[in-house]
Amino acid sequence: MEVLVAADRVVAPVTPGATPGRAEAVVTDALPGLSVTRLVFDMTPDSDEGPAGGGTGGTGGSTGNEAGPRAASHLAAARQLVPWLAAGEHVAFVTLGDPNVYSTFPALVDALGRLGVEVPVATVPGITAFQDLAARSGTVLLDGTQSLSLVTALDGPRHVADALRDPDRTVVVYKGGRHVPAIAALLAEHGRLEGAVLGELLGLPGERVEPLAGAAGRAASYLATVIVPPAPATSTGEER
Ligand SMILES: C[S@@+](CC[C@H](N)C(=O)[O-])C[C@H]1O[C@@H](n2cnc3c(N)ncnc32)[C@H](O)[C@@H]1O
Repeated sequence: MEVLVAADRVVAPVTPGATPGRAEAVVTDALPGLSVTRLVFDMTPDSDEGPAGGGTGGTGGSTGNEAGPRAASHLAAARQLVPWLAAGEHVAFVTLGDPNVYSTFPALVDALGRLGVEVPVATVPGITAFQDLAARSGTVLLDGTQSLSLVTALDGPRHVADALRDPDRTVVVYKGGRHVPAIAALLAEHGRLEGAVLGELLGLPGERVEPLAGAAGRAASYLATVIVPPAPATSTGEER
């Protein structure tokens, strides 16, 4: 909040036609009257295979296709920032959750670099969607020596299947709203459906938080997150 209040300019990503964007709605809800400059972005998510079949599955970042419409929109947004930064303005960019987790922000910084703009960049940690869902659903994410995989399921649950190999691993699924029925079926196959939770539109109008088992019949929106806790330990102590 202090960063936003202290900034000379607050900018927020919007998709063409979407006014205001989600991030802007969140900050103006917290700080009514805050002036926000909109930057239009093409938010079409990359495929899980990456734009050229070899990416990381992020929707932003410097790993994307540097020739596609998304990259072009990052460059266009960066160009808008140039005169403000050249004038010495302290510009704050708002994004959903944490700016270092699947955010548009790194791609914007990368585009500035490609324009030859060098400015100090700092990020403020945000609460990720999965941390928010854990709190709202009363789900413990990790304990003891357990580990966590954060995977995407834009094109289907392939990465979820990989992560489920380790029963001690919590699995968080982003970008899998369209594939909720397939994700639920996969979890049922692995005996991991019980305890899994779905959070859609967290903190936004239309929010729903519910056991995945009860939501398995229909797809959810892009803003949906699934948490799959580790498999419960067996009473006999056998390997799972
Ligand atoms: C581009 S990533 C943004 C992640 C964000 N930077 C974070 O720290 O959580 C978009 C994915 O994050 C998750 N997500 C972001 N906002 C959400 C929300 N309000 N409710 C549920 N899931 C959300 C969804 O899985 C969505 O597909």
